[in-house]
Amino acid sequence: MKMHRESPIEISKEEFTKIGYRLIDTIAAFIDVIGDKPVTTGESPKQIQHILGTALLPETGTDASELFVKTAGLLLNHSLLNGHPKFMGYITSSPAPIGALADLLAAAVNPNVGANILSPMATAIEKQTITWLAEFIGVSSTYGGILVSGGNMANFTAFLAARTAKAPASLKENGLVNTPGEMVLYCSKATHTWIEKAAVLFGHGTRSIRWIPTNINNKIDNEILVQTIEEDLKNGKKPFMIVGNAGDVSTGVVDDLLAIATVCKQHDLWFHIDGAYGIPAAVIPQLKNIFEGIEEADSIALDPHKWLYAPLEVGCTLVKNPQHLIDTYSSHPVYYNFDNNEEEPSLNYYEYGFQNSRGFRALKVWMALQHVGKSGYIETINEDIELSKLLFEKASNHPELEAITQNLSIATLRYIPLAFVAEDRETYLNTLNEKLLNQLQQGGEVFLSNAIVSEKYCLRTCIANFRTSKNDIEEIIETVVREGRKMHEMLLLANG
Ligand SMILES: Cc1ncc(COP(=O)(O)O)c(C=O)c1O
Repeated sequence: MKMHRESPIEISKEEFTKIGYRLIDTIAAFIDVIGDKPVTTGESPKQIQHILGTALLPETGTDASELFVKTAGLLLNHSLLNGHPKFMGYITSSPAPIGALADLLAAAVNPNVGANILSPMATAIEKQTITWLAEFIGVSSTYGGILVSGGNMANFTAFLAARTAKAPASLKENGLVNTPGEMVLYCSKATHTWIEKAAVLFGHGTRSIRWIPTNINNKIDNEILVQTIEEDLKNGKKPFMIVGNAGDVSTGVVDDLLAIATVCKQHDLWFHIDGAYGIPAAVIPQLKNIFEGIEEADSIALDPHKWLYAPLEVGCTLVKNPQHLIDTYSSHPVYYNFDNNEEEPSLNYYEYGFQNSRGFRALKVWMALQHVGKSGYIETINEDIELSKLLFEKASNHPELEAITQNLSIATLRYIPLAFVAEDRETYLNTLNEKLLNQLQQGGEVFLSNAIVSEKYCLRTCIANFRTSKNDIEEIIETVVREGRKMHEMLLLANG
């Protein structure tokens, strides 16, 4: 009989089974009643710290079974529940239950998806996932790419590929400071903050970003875009990339992608689409026209952990010619022996992005794509959009609400008291709605976030939530109006 090493880390088969079953029972019961719980308990960081305690680093181990009971209690009773039907803040989806199970399986096998030899099946699954994601949104399945931790990373990964593709080949050795011509890039002013982080982190500085104004439809103004590029060229700058939004973070607007693609072709610029949130909606046949031009993109960011309902974390960078990723990220240290099959070149994902050791985040996406199927996603994403339209319509029809925008599954609105006198109406409404949002976020009935649209402080709802129903929409409208009235009264009292 084989002798097993005694280790404080090992959990026996019997104990693992017992704890695992109990944990799964607990999670299943939690999911079953998630809609009856508050979206958040609204506890302050101090209160949370108190509940958690301030124990010192444990010197000796604790029984795993006890630990799970205690930890499940902490998390299930003191978390903000983005799986709740009335969670529609920011852009975090309700997580697909199959994703939670897939993560458990992925962690149990623990393949290092940095190199094929370390993860033969997982690498093949990630490759297939990426091909399926390309097919899903309707671009050629010859796009390649990599899964990353989320939208920021998906956009960063593409940003650097764009730079490699458009900068002189000497950039790698000489760095930016010794490269002639200041490299500049273009995006609408509605672009997510990742672009500032990228410009800062990768040495371009925020001044390299040309924030192009939006037109009346909140899309990038193409005329100003072209004028700005031409001016930059006249001034000796080196334009290298235009970013189009396919669902901007605040209002869900999709830029005119075809027009951007044309400008990119004319000026030999890299065309990147930030579709972190919205691009999964391209799967819906009736919406194809909104996304016209995506097949022209050199790179696309899309986040399965947003509108494909994967548990955090998983984003994806798709690149039309994946060689640009290899040119950017590949290195061959002497201590790697990852290309030992002479007949077949290895697909080693460490050559495609920032990470060398990489987790198996593909599994939850790959399994969900099969569990739900393309038709299931079309149905669910469509329902999210219909619910968002319903909310917008209900807000439009309510005398105390102003419906502001509705695109994809994002609607913005604000509370306006029936009759009020204020010296500066817009300033008052902004204050009122900001305070109202804070109240709603603490209250636990619903979780919304905010957007500033045409200088109006709005309540923003983003439905990437397969649990939300029509009934929830009606209740959310009631909650917003009820809390809006209360907040207005409180402000009137406070202002004497
Ligand atoms: C359009 C867009 N791009 C990028 C991001 C950043 O994604 P992440 O938070 O996953 O890094 C977001 C997040 O909401 C987004 O909406």
